[in-house]
Amino acid sequence: MNVTIIGSGNMAKGIAARFVGGGHTVTIHAQDEEKAKEIEGVRVVAVGSETDEIVVLATPYTEVENIAKSYGGFAGKVVIDISNPVDFNTFELLPKPGESGAQHVADVLSDAKVVKAFNTTLAGALVAGEVEGKQLDVFVAGDDDEAKSAVKELINTSSLRAIDVGPLSESRHLEGFGLIQMKIQDQIGTNWMSALKFLG
Ligand SMILES: NC(=O)c1ccc[n+]([C@@H]2O[C@H](COP(=O)([O-])OP(=O)(O)OC[C@H]3O[C@@H](n4cnc5c(N)ncnc54)[C@H](OP(=O)(O)O)[C@@H]3O)[C@@H](O)[C@H]2O)c1
Repeated sequence: MNVTIIGSGNMAKGIAARFVGGGHTVTIHAQDEEKAKEIEGVRVVAVGSETDEIVVLATPYTEVENIAKSYGGFAGKVVIDISNPVDFNTFELLPKPGESGAQHVADVLSDAKVVKAFNTTLAGALVAGEVEGKQLDVFVAGDDDEAKSAVKELINTSSLRAIDVGPLSESRHLEGFGLIQMKIQDQIGTNWMSALKFLG
């Protein structure tokens, strides 16, 4: 599959590593194209270039309005929201209780098909491709079944296991998981290399 990743930071690098490993064609849209060329196996173009049918927003949650303007809202495209919508001053979720960042992204990108995925799979674990020798789980939520199926296929063909948690509204639970995961990093001492996985 052909996939566009917007951003060239930690998550872009981790997700690109897995997708390239799965034989997919990845194009990175980077503000700093020189830096992005350090990511192996991808094509690098400028932010605002034409995108593929599947687009990963590997950018801060708070940038979604700016990005929507740069891309005309991604009309008709499948957009993967990977964000953890966290206020880094208070370490609390930015959306109100019962709401989700993914729903806000879907409201801003109202002509796109937004799918939540990857927010509990930390960048270091994605680069490594496993944790303690175990395949990584990627939790997926979305309202458009066709879009969600495409994202799950992309994940499952990239040596990862997609777990469908239901409609986009379930993203609020994934984002709650993501917040807890961030809060306990020092306590569990895995140096941001952890990933949530169901065992058994
Ligand atoms: N890090 C993790 O382990 C992790 C895990 C799960 C989810 N997430 C989520 O993944 C997303 C990315 O996190 P990250 O850790 O990869 O952050 P990061 O390393 O800071 O990378 C963010 C990237 O976004 C780019 N960017 C910022 N504003 C932009 C804009 N308006 N247009 C285009 N590109 C823009 C930055 O460009 P410059 O390089 O030019 O600044 C940078 O390449 C966040 O939503 C985060 O919550 C992160």
